[in-house]
Amino acid sequence: MANLKTIVALAVVSLAGISAAAGCAADNCYRALFPCPSPSAVSVASAFCATITASGTTATNYPTRATNACGTTADRYISACQCGPTCSYSTLAMATSSSSTTNAPACEPPSTSTTFTSTTSTAPPACESTPVNGNLLYGDFECDFTPWNPLVFAPYNGVYGYSVTTPGFTKVNSFQTQFLGTPNCPTTCTYLRLTSPVFPVTPGVKYKYTFATWFDGISRGFVGTKINDRAGRTVSALDYPVTNWRFHQVPFQANATENEASVFFEWLNVESRLDSVTFAPLSAYCGNTSPVGLLPDGEFECGLGAWTQQKPDPQATAGVVNLGSDSLYTNSFPMGDYAWRVVSPGVPNPANQELHVSARIISGSMAVTPGKKYLVYFTSFFSNRTVGSVGVMINNSPIYTRNPNDAAQGTPAVFSPNHIIWTNMAGLTSVSVKIEALVFGAGTIAIDSVMFVELNDGVV
Ligand SMILES: *[C@@H]1O[C@H](CO)[C@@H](O)[C@H](O)[C@H]1NC(C)=O
Ligand SMILES: *[C@@H]1O[C@H](CO)[C@@H](O)[C@H](O)[C@H]1NC(C)=O
Repeated sequence: MANLKTIVALAVVSLAGISAAAGCAADNCYRALFPCPSPSAVSVASAFCATITASGTTATNYPTRATNACGTTADRYISACQCGPTCSYSTLAMATSSSSTTNAPACEPPSTSTTFTSTTSTAPPACESTPVNGNLLYGDFECDFTPWNPLVFAPYNGVYGYSVTTPGFTKVNSFQTQFLGTPNCPTTCTYLRLTSPVFPVTPGVKYKYTFATWFDGISRGFVGTKINDRAGRTVSALDYPVTNWRFHQVPFQANATENEASVFFEWLNVESRLDSVTFAPLSAYCGNTSPVGLLPDGEFECGLGAWTQQKPDPQATAGVVNLGSDSLYTNSFPMGDYAWRVVSPGVPNPANQELHVSARIISGSMAVTPGKKYLVYFTSFFSNRTVGSVGVMINNSPIYTRNPNDAAQGTPAVFSPNHIIWTNMAGLTSVSVKIEALVFGAGTIAIDSVMFVELNDGVV
């Protein structure tokens, strides 16, 4: 019965002979080689270290994750290998049997969280997974897999395992899938499926679900998600930089007879993390208590709400509108029925604008913690590539610009995601997000799905 603890333990044993050697330098190279938050990378590094020796017999298959920090000559690797790994894990039980379809592993905290006992009712906040404001599902993996049901399915050859690991995207922990052996696609390609409990939905109502992904390495695999067996979103490992978190938001509408739902995620041939899974009606994003994050009224489903709008250019039209009746938004993938939008009937006169801003919205203020990281997320829409751009400020400091020509924006007339990690280096305790439409030509700019979420300090 293989599990990761065993693999790491074996690696430590194989390094024991050199672990006390002189010349141990726990530098950047060491940290890049043994990234403790990624047990799979540590075990790869350990296997690599077993092939490199102080007498100068060198392997050249340097782990790619470490070459930026360590270079491609042997000496730095020899030094780092002599130091480690020093990570300590208390990895949760692994899926090693295809018959274990209903027994989620017992809640057992990783060793990095040493202050609580999972079996008592006095667990600290880090272990809470409490749905707030409209969330029908809230999966933050802070304690364990509860209420999820990790379920392995065919074709299965025993090489997929899972655990709870840190850093998560939000709070402390996340769900982690990992290979316990070498997958050999397509012969023994492995899948792992994680299924949520069934929860009630109201026929016809529009919902949003969110999740965050992180890929351990470059892979042709993907994470797919479905609701009631309807395709939700497929996130390919090739589309995102590795060891980076990405937040995803997906719309869902219950059909006329649908009164319950279940979400599942499945992994094909990829080691990755999952965190911050939520499912809530869009109406829950109206008002001050967002199901996810701190920002009030980010979906505009109830109008501007806590937002303040300013419109320097009298020629422009700005406001929250129902997109449904306007063919401009057909196939634009909005979230829900409403968005904030600015229309310029012609080329603006810059004298009427404020540094090219025709209109802007300023969010309600949010309490923040000095030094913490936050996700600023929104979707942006440009009717064409000449209409202008979107600028984002925190209080009055610019942090981001989205142009219609940016690759991530894709083709015109589509709501596309913007994903900004902002660190509160200025030590602010209260912030507003300001989103500005800089207009240069005739056309429409629209904004939707604005989120502001506190992140784990380890997020990059
Ligand atoms: C509505 O959803 C249910 C559950 O997913 C499904 O079985 C049913 O076929 C759907 N009905 C229609 C008309 O799509
Ligand atoms: C951009 O789109 C608007 C419609 O929103 C249209 O009036 C305008 O002519 C377009 N501009 C160009 C250059 O295509």
